[in-house]
Amino acid sequence: MILSRRRFLMSAASAPLALPVSACMSADGAPPPPTLRERADRAGLLFGTAIGPSVDTDAAYRAAVIRDCNALVCEYEMKWDHIAPTPRGRAFEAADRRLAFAKRHAMEMRGHTLVWHGATPRWLGQEATRATARRILEAHISETVGRYRGRIHSWDVVNEAIHPEDGESRGLRRTPLLGLIGPDYIETAFRAAAEADPGARLVYNDYGLSAPWGEARRRAALDLLERLLARGVPIHGVGIQCHLDLKPGSFDPETVHRFGHAVAAMGLDLLVTELDVADQHGPADEAERDTQVATIYGAFLDAVLATPRLVGILTWGLSDRHTWLARERPRSDRLPVRPLLYDRRMRPKAAWFAVAAALDRAGRKGV
Ligand code: XIL
Repeated sequence: MILSRRRFLMSAASAPLALPVSACMSADGAPPPPTLRERADRAGLLFGTAIGPSVDTDAAYRAAVIRDCNALVCEYEMKWDHIAPTPRGRAFEAADRRLAFAKRHAMEMRGHTLVWHGATPRWLGQEATRATARRILEAHISETVGRYRGRIHSWDVVNEAIHPEDGESRGLRRTPLLGLIGPDYIETAFRAAAEADPGARLVYNDYGLSAPWGEARRRAALDLLERLLARGVPIHGVGIQCHLDLKPGSFDPETVHRFGHAVAAMGLDLLVTELDVADQHGPADEAERDTQVATIYGAFLDAVLATPRLVGILTWGLSDRHTWLARERPRSDRLPVRPLLYDRRMRPKAAWFAVAAALDRAGRKGV
């Protein structure tokens, strides 16, 4: 029996916070509703979230992660600048710990991300020359991917390499590696990753690819993917970040469909890698705002779940307690942001129920 939303909210809120909801009974002894993990398992999908140090320090949050996720990704601890703070110094402890946590709970772990202009170590600029940059990149990838060989579901090998606004002929972003190595730094990265872990699924990840405003980005990304595939570069999937918001027209199902089908037609898998819904411009009223956020989650998931090769969905955080959007997209009225599935007291919000219902619909269709 599926509990009513109100009953679940009450039972979850009154439950001891460190216990998973699934270990609790509601007042009348009815079983708790299926977790998101159970629903995703039933639909044959990955479902999970980005995590960071708060899974070590915040028991209620950790319980929700364990309950609802069958897949995790590090929000930043596997990024290049984190694992290589100096040219020869390495700091893998945090990433190792997150991976051990995932494995302990029988979850898949995604690798994010080997190459991203936002996480290029500062020392690279001083250390690398045109002659040495390719070797430094290859060494970073073979060390990182090799360390976790056989234990990572899929790697975001290259993140956000498209930026048509930069005016490069191929729509690529002007980054230090593009300057030092040239456009084939992308191919080099994928080949190095495949060599270090031949079993890993290798993903190109970017934002705006399924958004109505992303036409130029889509064109550049599909061109890039075509060029890579034509050259036999090992690439298996496309990650769409999906940092959505409440601005009118920032998402439409038709564009999601079109892009999802284009990716599938190339023989590539699709992953939603960083889903959240910024409520920066939503109404002040919390209930109204939560409803708007939940509506976007539900409609977006229905659209993406109807594409032919969707492997899974990861959100960029699980609770409004821990979200990068508090810093990145604060509200002008200073009210706390509410972009995720649980509120700051770890109560499931309307967005949780919208995701649950969308996973159920996908499960019934037998994705
Ligand atoms: C962000 C993290 O959430 C922040 O905590 C960090 O300071 C910067 O990176 N696209 C991505 C992610 O691919 O890696 C970014 O994560 C968010 C945007």
